[in-house]
Amino acid sequence: MKEPAIQVNHLRKSFKDTEVLKGVNFEVEKGSIFALLGSNGAGKTTIVKILSTLLKHDDGTATVNGFDISSMPDSVRQSISLTGQFAAVDEVLTGRENVIMIAKLRHLKQPRQIADDLLKRFGLTDAANRRASTYSGGMRRRLDIAMSLIGKPQLIFLDEPTTGLDPEVRIEVWKVVKELAAGGTTVFLTTQYLEEAEQLADRIAILHEGRIIANGTLSELKKLFPQAKVEYVAKQPSLEEIFLAIVGKKEAI
Ligand SMILES: Nc1ncnc2c1ncn2[C@@H]1O[C@H](COP(=O)(O)OP(=O)(O)OP(=O)(O)O)[C@@H](O)[C@H]1O
Ligand SMILES: [Mg+2]
Repeated sequence: MKEPAIQVNHLRKSFKDTEVLKGVNFEVEKGSIFALLGSNGAGKTTIVKILSTLLKHDDGTATVNGFDISSMPDSVRQSISLTGQFAAVDEVLTGRENVIMIAKLRHLKQPRQIADDLLKRFGLTDAANRRASTYSGGMRRRLDIAMSLIGKPQLIFLDEPTTGLDPEVRIEVWKVVKELAAGGTTVFLTTQYLEEAEQLADRIAILHEGRIIANGTLSELKKLFPQAKVEYVAKQPSLEEIFLAIVGKKEAI
């Protein structure tokens, strides 16, 4: 088997007395889209921060693109990009200046050309020369994702990439994510939108009470779901029903 893009073994993390991650294990295959689902406060962002070396874990091991997150954090950082849960654009700069700044920080040639191409791809050409502070939430989010693609990282972390976006923009972001994976980029995404995982992910993992309680393809997860009891109507469970059944918040339908 080829080396996974992410390998996580017995990862643990506590904040003071609160044990958030109680031994998390999973792998992400190179070039695949992996979706991490979990309720609010489950620890999704904590995992993203640990894997992107922004936060130290307490125990366990993890590698990202073959680099150990504890002993080779610089190599990890150089091989990834991160779009956080809250947009990280500089409000004082224009959209175009934001992209150019990151391209320059990454020592890329032709930063202006890169900026124009990315802004066009995300439908921001008309707004390119306006300050990001005047952008709508959706525009800011698009700019944020565009910025994370600068320099073509091998692996991209998207923490709730479409929260607050209207359905049209959400579909646009999905398209971009699919294109990225088709081009060989590994995508690790967290989401509250189960439809998003259903649409995008090659594998879906559910984080609940500090552990991964389910991990598989959509069809594998569907097999975990109890058979429909209705005799005459064969109904496929949605991922939402599977999720709620697995985390035990609602009676299975
Ligand atoms: N720096 C911190 N100090 C103390 N507690 C923290 C810190 N960061 C996270 N936590 C706690 O850890 C738990 C997991 O938080 P995390 O942000 O990882 O959840 P999440 O799954 O991303 O939730 P959401 O869906 O709301 O984004 C929460 O109980 C949170 O309050
Ligand atoms: Mg979060």
